[in-house]
Amino acid sequence: MRVGIITVSDRCSRQECVDESGKRIMDILSERNEEIAFYCTLPDERTLVSNVLLQRCEESICDLILTTGGTGFSPRDVTPEATLDIIERHVPGIPEEMRRVSMQKTPNAMLSRAVAGIRGRTLIVNLPGSVKAVTECLEAILPALSHGIEVLRGEVGSCGR
Ligand code: MTE
Repeated sequence: MRVGIITVSDRCSRQECVDESGKRIMDILSERNEEIAFYCTLPDERTLVSNVLLQRCEESICDLILTTGGTGFSPRDVTPEATLDIIERHVPGIPEEMRRVSMQKTPNAMLSRAVAGIRGRTLIVNLPGSVKAVTECLEAILPALSHGIEVLRGEVGSCGR
């Protein structure tokens, strides 16, 4: 999979803190020999985030974009809205599974409003912002993602046969 990583955080984008979650995603993907197509940090600005997501999807440079951060209740948390602004098809099973698994670790998992969806041939998945959450959520969804990406790329015609 060619994977893009976007850390959505005002503080990280101003370089006031180290982006530990983005680094954790990169480490997990590298361990699995996945290709990092791009990485960037963005402030919690809905239009900016949706424009970057749109541009990256239109360029078809990656199969999967993982965002981290901005899924909670803070007034500045707008990553799900920015994602919903540009996706064409919802993939509710992915955040459902992230929350199901995460709820076994912490009741605070219900506070993440993360969404997932498809634009063109790119799947976008929101992850919460903490290193712990990123690790727990990615472990829950990665096993199914590669098959989904294969289908999205048109590399397999039918499933489960
Ligand atoms: N999911 C997992 N797996 N582990 C966690 O520790 N933290 C939660 C939740 N999801 C958490 C989690 C908390 S405390 C919040 S506030 C929300 O994600 C939103 O986080 P975000 O605003 O950083 O995206």
